[in-house]
Amino acid sequence: MASKEIFQKVIENTQGSLMLQLAFIGVANNLFSAFDSKDKLTSSELAKVSRMDAAYVERWCDGAYAFELLDAEGDNFMLSEIGSAFRPAAEGTLMPFAIHAALSAHMAVRASELAHTGEQPGEQVLIERAPILPWFGPMLEVMFAPMFTEHLLPKLSIFKEVDKSGGVVVDLGCGNGWYLRALTQQYKKLRTIGLDGFDENISQARAMAEKQGRSDRMTFQAGDIFNYSVDEAVDVIVMNRALHHVWFRKSEVFKKFADSLKPGGSVLIWEPAWPADRSELRNPAYRGMAFQNLAEHVQGNHFLQPEEIQQEFGRVGMESNVMLFMNGNEALISAVKS
Ligand SMILES: C[S@@+](CC[C@H](N)C(=O)[O-])C[C@H]1O[C@@H](n2cnc3c(N)ncnc32)[C@H](O)[C@@H]1O
Repeated sequence: MASKEIFQKVIENTQGSLMLQLAFIGVANNLFSAFDSKDKLTSSELAKVSRMDAAYVERWCDGAYAFELLDAEGDNFMLSEIGSAFRPAAEGTLMPFAIHAALSAHMAVRASELAHTGEQPGEQVLIERAPILPWFGPMLEVMFAPMFTEHLLPKLSIFKEVDKSGGVVVDLGCGNGWYLRALTQQYKKLRTIGLDGFDENISQARAMAEKQGRSDRMTFQAGDIFNYSVDEAVDVIVMNRALHHVWFRKSEVFKKFADSLKPGGSVLIWEPAWPADRSELRNPAYRGMAFQNLAEHVQGNHFLQPEEIQQEFGRVGMESNVMLFMNGNEALISAVKS
């Protein structure tokens, strides 16, 4: 029988998981943001503001109150400190944790059924749950854009050079386009092209470029990396958490890099760095990655060690360097076409 301590630990984990599922319902249906219009709302007012069914919202409010996402005074509910932090617009929002929890639950169910047959349905698994899809890009943006602007961009002189000549940066598997938005925010002449397989991501990327008045320098296209070509020789190709998605056809991808770049052009690959030693996975900083690698398997992918990526650059005659950051969890592999 499990010890009292283990039992207690599992109960706490279960409660954490339930809280995140309730938070997901709140994020995906703008229930937290609804309190922007009024500090205190009854559950039926909240249902009205968020245009949802009153009986569902009433049950959600009880759950959110139980898990301290909402506080209550009589029939009125208001955001608690933690509930307020789940608002997607909150500074340092906790939104990604809620989306990640719901996506992980979906992936766990899919992995457990697919493990019987070995089937790997591919990327489409990510769009099986309609309420999750619109949050996929924003989740990644909140998780990684600050890491990029604070830790990586200051170290990358390449973009300054490309900006001087009004050159072009291509992002393959660009998601909602946050990386290119960060670049064009800082560099005013640089042009960008983003490609992604999901229409939803491309619609969001286009809408935000338009809103920020940068559509003249930023184009986005929905399509498959394998059927895609650019009309001009490219200065820089970037891929962020996307290379492992197309690794099963890596020789084509690396040939495309070499063929598309100008002489002297660069590729920057940002990937989670899968550890060489399994014991590292016990480190809390790696645990999420270990779960995600199972979810990646469902999609037909797996995480990579930086050396594997370097090897492929070598095969197309491109010299590469690895920079590890975030305590070694993240890798930037850069390569130049001679
Ligand atoms: C983990 S997401 C990363 C998105 C974005 N780069 C970011 O960092 O937020 C991987 C992206 O690669 C895209 N992708 C995967 N395979 C693709 C393919 N064959 N063609 C185009 N896009 C693809 C997916 O649609 C997804 O948006």
